[in-house]
Amino acid sequence: MAMAKPVLSLLVHLHAALLFLPDPDGGAVYNVLRYGARPDGATDAAGPFLRAWADACRSPRPATVYVPPGRYLVRSATFTGPCHSRAAVTFAIAGTVVAPARYGARGLSGRWITFENMDGLVVSGGGTLDGRGRALWACRRRGQRDCPTPTSSLTIANSKNVVVAGVQSVDSELFHVVVLQCHGVTVRGVTVEAPADSPNTDGIHLHMSSHVSVYDARISTGDDCISVGPGNSHLWIERVACGPGHGISIGSLGKQQGMEVEAVQNVTVKTTWFTGTMNGLRIKTWGGSKRGFVTGVTFANATMSGVDNPIIIDQNYCPDSSGCPGDGRSSSIRISDVRYVGIRGSSATPVAVSFDCSRSNPCSGISLQDVALTYQNRAAAKSYCRNVQGTTLGLVLPPSCL
Ligand SMILES: *[C@@H]1O[C@H](CO)[C@@H](O)[C@H](O)[C@H]1NC(C)=O
Ligand SMILES: *[C@@H]1O[C@H](CO)[C@@H](O)[C@H](O)[C@H]1NC(C)=O
Repeated sequence: MAMAKPVLSLLVHLHAALLFLPDPDGGAVYNVLRYGARPDGATDAAGPFLRAWADACRSPRPATVYVPPGRYLVRSATFTGPCHSRAAVTFAIAGTVVAPARYGARGLSGRWITFENMDGLVVSGGGTLDGRGRALWACRRRGQRDCPTPTSSLTIANSKNVVVAGVQSVDSELFHVVVLQCHGVTVRGVTVEAPADSPNTDGIHLHMSSHVSVYDARISTGDDCISVGPGNSHLWIERVACGPGHGISIGSLGKQQGMEVEAVQNVTVKTTWFTGTMNGLRIKTWGGSKRGFVTGVTFANATMSGVDNPIIIDQNYCPDSSGCPGDGRSSSIRISDVRYVGIRGSSATPVAVSFDCSRSNPCSGISLQDVALTYQNRAAAKSYCRNVQGTTLGLVLPPSCL
């Protein structure tokens, strides 16, 4: 469609003005279009994104990198700090950032988009990260050995004072959002979407981090909605809808060698909804001699709808039943002080509450309060206990075996 020349030139001028805009706080906006990014979904925009980042990062004033509506292909990109400004640098994604269609074109780092070494970062904008993981999942499902290293979509690493807000992640090859070795991170209003059968596509994975909060997440995926790996402490997770998926999991712990002691402590998971998930609230550790502990966990106010294992501690975790460490019964990870309060709804299997703890390190201080879980909304469910000590308070259904 032809446009009258004066109108076109006005639009071009407006557009140019929008490329570099002071924001209301006196900061500057670095629009990736000005750096040559093409919103065509086909031209690699990693270079323009990185150049916009370099200018924003160098700015003494609060700065925003802006990705306007449109589709931007990014092969892979690492945005590195520290930055000049003492205020946070904002990366505002209004458009859709897509990974290359061909897998294996994202390098070998296991990451697609990374922010690292930041003190003060906001990733926001309501836009979408599309990891285009289908081809890689298919390769892995065929059991092929030559599948390339899968990439996590968004990684925040070695940073503090970070907010990730209103970002959508779809079809990651591996984990959708990873918080690695960070302190002080808030993840708010994030949506994750991938098919139920996509392998290892955890929604949000936390690793060796402290003071991380997750609020208002909607996660449908093929693995854990949220996974809390080793080395995490002081976590707050509130208002998360999960399903399909494998639930909210602490662990797995006790598999890798390397870290001296694998620990998770002080975790609150409050007001959650699980729909048709494999698990609800889960703690999982591998058998074997790796030392560690999980302590100070509160799971409060959860609603389960047709969940295979609504409440589960599994210290014999070994999903492929091969290469399981130890004798499968005596995990050296100690689990203590775990409270379940206000857990309601239906289990899809007869056993709604399962505590399968380590023979050599029994679970202790487990408490159940106001728990009401049925078997498929029509029959009484059951509890299973092994090597566990704890207490109950108020109504607890199925009757506890603590
Ligand atoms: C536990 O973590 C929360 C943040 O989720 C924090 O506010 C609280 O102070 C921590 N408690 C202890 C005893 O460290
Ligand atoms: C418990 O969850 C329900 C929704 O499932 C919510 O409306 C309510 O505010 C929550 N209560 C608390 C104390 O967080």
